[in-house]
Amino acid sequence: MNEILVTGGAGYIGSHAVKRLLKENYKVHVLDNFTTGRRQALENLRKYGEINVIEADLRDGEKVKNALTAGSLKNVSTVLHFAGVLSVSESMQNPHKYFLNNLMGSVNLLEAVREAGIKNIIFSSTCATYGNSQYLPIDEEHPQNPTNPYGESKLMVEKAIKWYSALFGLKYVIFRYFNVFGSDPDCDVGYSSLPSVHLVQSAVRGALGLSPFNVTCADNFKTRDGTPVRDYVDVVDLVGAHFRAVKYLEKGGASDIFNLGTGKGYTVYEIIDQVEKTIGNKFDRNPGEIRQGEYAEVYANFDKATASLGWNPSTSLETGINNLVNWFKKYPEGLEN
Ligand SMILES: NC(=O)c1ccc[n+]([C@@H]2O[C@H](COP(=O)([O-])OP(=O)(O)OC[C@H]3O[C@@H](n4cnc5c(N)ncnc54)[C@H](O)[C@@H]3O)[C@@H](O)[C@H]2O)c1
Repeated sequence: MNEILVTGGAGYIGSHAVKRLLKENYKVHVLDNFTTGRRQALENLRKYGEINVIEADLRDGEKVKNALTAGSLKNVSTVLHFAGVLSVSESMQNPHKYFLNNLMGSVNLLEAVREAGIKNIIFSSTCATYGNSQYLPIDEEHPQNPTNPYGESKLMVEKAIKWYSALFGLKYVIFRYFNVFGSDPDCDVGYSSLPSVHLVQSAVRGALGLSPFNVTCADNFKTRDGTPVRDYVDVVDLVGAHFRAVKYLEKGGASDIFNLGTGKGYTVYEIIDQVEKTIGNKFDRNPGEIRQGEYAEVYANFDKATASLGWNPSTSLETGINNLVNWFKKYPEGLEN
C-alpha cells in the first residue's frame, strides 16, 4: 500500500486532503500539534482507511526528526506540508509566531525529511508571497514582494525547499493558493477554525446567525466597488490538485511551482451579495480603514497547473457556499479537539 505523510492533516485543508488520499487507497500518517486542527476530523475519516496520528509540534525539531526516522514512516515517499499559521493581520501583530511556526517549523521538517530519506514534498504556499499585483492575472513568474510577515515566512520556506532540492535532491511541488473556501459535500470534514479569519466562511456563519459578522471593509481601493478583489478556490478542487501532484512526482515529474486559483476575482461586496442571495439575509455595509499589509487586487493565472497537472477548478462560488451552509448547519461549533 502506498503511504503518505500529511502535516497539518487535522486542519481545514489538510483534512480534506487526508480524505481524498484515503479514498485513493493511501495509508496516511498525520503529523499535527492540534492547535487549530481537530482530532474529530481524523476520527470521522477512519471509515475510509488507515490513519496513523503523530502528535508533534514542528517547532520541536528533535521530536519531529525522531518521529520521521523511527521506522514507521519507512514506506513514505511524499510529504504534503500543510501545517502552519495563516492570518495576515495576526502576522502584523505577532511576526515571531509566523517565523517560528512557518519558517522554523518547515526547516525542522525539511531536515527530518532529509534524514528519513523522504523523496518528495508538496508545500502549501500562498499568493501572499506576491504582495501587490504588478499585473493581472498573476502568474508564477510575478515578482514576489510580500507585504506582511505571513507572506514573507512562506516565501522563505519556498527558498529553503529550493535549497534542499539543489543540495540533496529533494523533489518538490510548491502550490501558491489563492483564497480557499468551501467544504466537503459529505460533511465528514469542514471548517472548524473559529473564530473564522476567512471572508466567505465568516459571512456564511454570520448569515446563519452562528457568529457575529459585520461587513466593515475599506471601500477606497481602486477596484470595481472600492473593496478588495480576491480569487476564491474551492477546498475540494484544491486538494484535487494535491492528489495530481502526488501522482506527478511519483511518476518523476520535475520540481515546479503552481498557482491554485480560479482566475476569477470577486470583490468583498460581491461575495457578500452571493452569501445574501444563497441564505436570504441582508447585511449592513460599513466602510472601514485599509488594514496594515492589505492589498487591492489579486487573482490567479492557473494555466501552468492545467498544462502540467491537468488541473481545472470546477466548483462554483454558489456551490462552495452551499456546502459551507450544510457544514455549519451540521457542525455549528466546528469539530471537537
Ligand atoms: N486557508 C487558506 O485560504 C489558505 C490560503 C493560502 C495558503 N494556505 C496554507 O494552507 C495551509 C493549511 O491551511 P488551513 O486553512 O487548513 O489552516 P488550519 O489552521 O485549518 O490548518 C493548519 C494545521 O496545521 C497545524 N499546525 C499549525 N502549526 C503547527 C505546528 N507548529 N506543528 C504542527 N502542526 C501545526 C494545525 O493544528 C492545523 O491542523 C497553511 O500552511 C496555510 O498557510 C491556506
